[in-house]
Amino acid sequence: MKSPIRIGPRLVWPRFPDFPPHFYKAERMRIDMRSKRYFYDWTAFTPEGLPHAEAYWREGTALLASLLPERFAKDPGKYKGINLGTFTGAYQKAWIRRGYKMYGVELQDVIDDLKAYGCEGQRDNVYDLSTIAAAQFDFGVLDRVFCQKEFYAKLEARAKKGRNARTSHFENIRRVLKNDGALIGVLYEWYTPAIVAELAGLGGMTLWPMNMDRLAFCVDLSMPATDIPDPMREDFESRCFVDARAGGLPARLFLPTNEIVAECGGGRTASFAPPLRTPKAGLKRTLPAES
Ligand SMILES: C[S@@+](CC[C@H](N)C(=O)[O-])C[C@H]1O[C@@H](n2cnc3c(N)ncnc32)[C@H](O)[C@@H]1O
Repeated sequence: MKSPIRIGPRLVWPRFPDFPPHFYKAERMRIDMRSKRYFYDWTAFTPEGLPHAEAYWREGTALLASLLPERFAKDPGKYKGINLGTFTGAYQKAWIRRGYKMYGVELQDVIDDLKAYGCEGQRDNVYDLSTIAAAQFDFGVLDRVFCQKEFYAKLEARAKKGRNARTSHFENIRRVLKNDGALIGVLYEWYTPAIVAELAGLGGMTLWPMNMDRLAFCVDLSMPATDIPDPMREDFESRCFVDARAGGLPARLFLPTNEIVAECGGGRTASFAPPLRTPKAGLKRTLPAES
């Protein structure tokens, strides 16, 4: 028996506040303004600015925590989470302040800064995690790490170099989580049917549409894998369809596969939504290569 897919209400990620310049360290501003790292880097802030930035990270973390299955809310001290792509720990610390034990992994060489902020963790790739034993964590948080447009370009570059493209994005993440655990997160707007199908295979899945066309998700690993309905047959009244815009016009978005579905000559057409949202001349309306 499979779990039915669940769709939650639209969520709105808090807007990064317009802080005055003296909240930022001048030397960090020069480096980080373009990369926007200050959105999630405590080292960019002055002692006066940091508490304000922390209030913002607390808000984002409250939204993320609301994605967890209810059982995790009662006694946070019982649970240990892994923050996947933690950078210098802005959000990891906010989770700790909510009462959870947290461990972070981050691809970049910033672990000294993570530790200086009072957080535990290691430099690692979320695809690897080979030095972490299985079933260590009650939940994982994968917040804004996967599915920017460039995400697929990297996979394609890898394939062109003759290296195998990835067949599983979540295999090692799943390995370090307990069987009664959960994986939550936010995918960027270029998420594909294949990524969601992979998540659905791990357990009972809930999806939430989010502003900026992002997708929030929770997979409850204690539940059977989730059945994803067929966008070509699903009732247009189903919660899997949400209002969206394509090329500036109203459209029906099939949330689980990120496809705009339209009626056409008695049948339906489905087109991958991201290229339609910001139409540009010559852009192919195809799914990014993933295998
Ligand atoms: C936009 S930030 C998201 C903020 C973050 N989730 C937090 O807790 O503050 C994404 C982070 O994920 C990291 N990242 C991206 N791909 C990764 C990978 N394959 N393994 C580990 N970290 C990764 C990036 O270096 C970056 O620090």
